[in-house]
Amino acid sequence: MENNQEILSADSLYHVYESKAEDGNVVALRGLHMSVKSGEAVAVVGPSGSGKSTLLKCLGGLMKPSAGSVSLTGRNMTRLTGAELVELRRKTVSFIFQEGNLLPNMSALDNVAQPLRHQGVSPREAKRRAGELLIDLGLESRMHGLPAMLSGGEQQRVAIARALITNPKLILADEPTGSLDPITSREVLALFKRLHEEENVSFLLVTHSSEVADFCDRALELRDGRFIAQHGEGFEVAELAESRELLIDEMGMVSLPPDILLEMGGPGRWVVDEVAERRLVLESAEDEVISVFDKSRRILSSDCPACKYEYDDTNVQSCPECGATRPLVKA
Ligand SMILES: Nc1ncnc2c1ncn2[C@@H]1O[C@H](COP(=O)(O)OP(=O)(O)OP(=O)(O)O)[C@@H](O)[C@H]1O
Ligand SMILES: [Mg+2]
Repeated sequence: MENNQEILSADSLYHVYESKAEDGNVVALRGLHMSVKSGEAVAVVGPSGSGKSTLLKCLGGLMKPSAGSVSLTGRNMTRLTGAELVELRRKTVSFIFQEGNLLPNMSALDNVAQPLRHQGVSPREAKRRAGELLIDLGLESRMHGLPAMLSGGEQQRVAIARALITNPKLILADEPTGSLDPITSREVLALFKRLHEEENVSFLLVTHSSEVADFCDRALELRDGRFIAQHGEGFEVAELAESRELLIDEMGMVSLPPDILLEMGGPGRWVVDEVAERRLVLESAEDEVISVFDKSRRILSSDCPACKYEYDDTNVQSCPECGATRPLVKA
């Protein structure tokens, strides 16, 4: 496949985890659009709970999104039958998850050889190739152990070997170096880099590590199930705030990261001061910016909204008469 062709794309991706429990449904993805070109390495960054793992599972066809579509090498996965989907995935993509990558009753070697067996490779040849890859990843002495007998970092490397053994065109990985020490992590990255540069393998990596992020061509920043920003080549995770580009989707929606919103002066009404091709200037409509951050513009109410008790000038936070919380009101 040529460069610049899309290997993976998602359109209006939504995912809701339905729950009967008290906390109700969780909307984990809120209308995401994204694509990965053939040979590109893309990082997904964002805080815990922002939807990174959910996104990866939907993109890899392991979970059906509640709405929206995902295409792998130009084929819409949401329209494929189970068997077609398995076949397309097997030929194209490999996964490395946060956990649960290995079959517990098989040795490390058999875990790595198994995807090749599914492709019809002979047991002897599959084991030979699996062994070579495990040696490459520094696991020569642990090959015959069951996953439960391996450390977290060793299991992670076996999972990486299992993902790489089929020469996938795309690797989806959730914190692939999460449980590795810095040296092992660097070795895994070197292997990724070689596959990326020499074999044009595409990557979509969830990461908190600046070294992993640095390996990627660009990064998408996820927060509360939305992409809020995109960061270009050579960015550092620690410097995300300075290298930001905001994403505006086809619907015209833009989500502002909280720190940018704070710097602008908070949510509220904004007047379009100037709009031109490739340029938009917003001006705050004076006094109508709701200050959610600047508490000094809000003061404690002088009376209780429930029982009308009149507070004196103290800073008590709840009503001594009825126990209601003392609200903040505009100064
Ligand atoms: N099986 C599930 N059932 C219900 N809610 C879920 C389920 N899995 C995830 N969630 C919720 O969906 C949201 C996104 O979760 P997700 O696992 O995608 O986050 P994440 O960005 O991968 O976080 P982390 O960095 O901690 O791995 C969270 O609010 C989470 O609580
Ligand atoms: Mg996760």
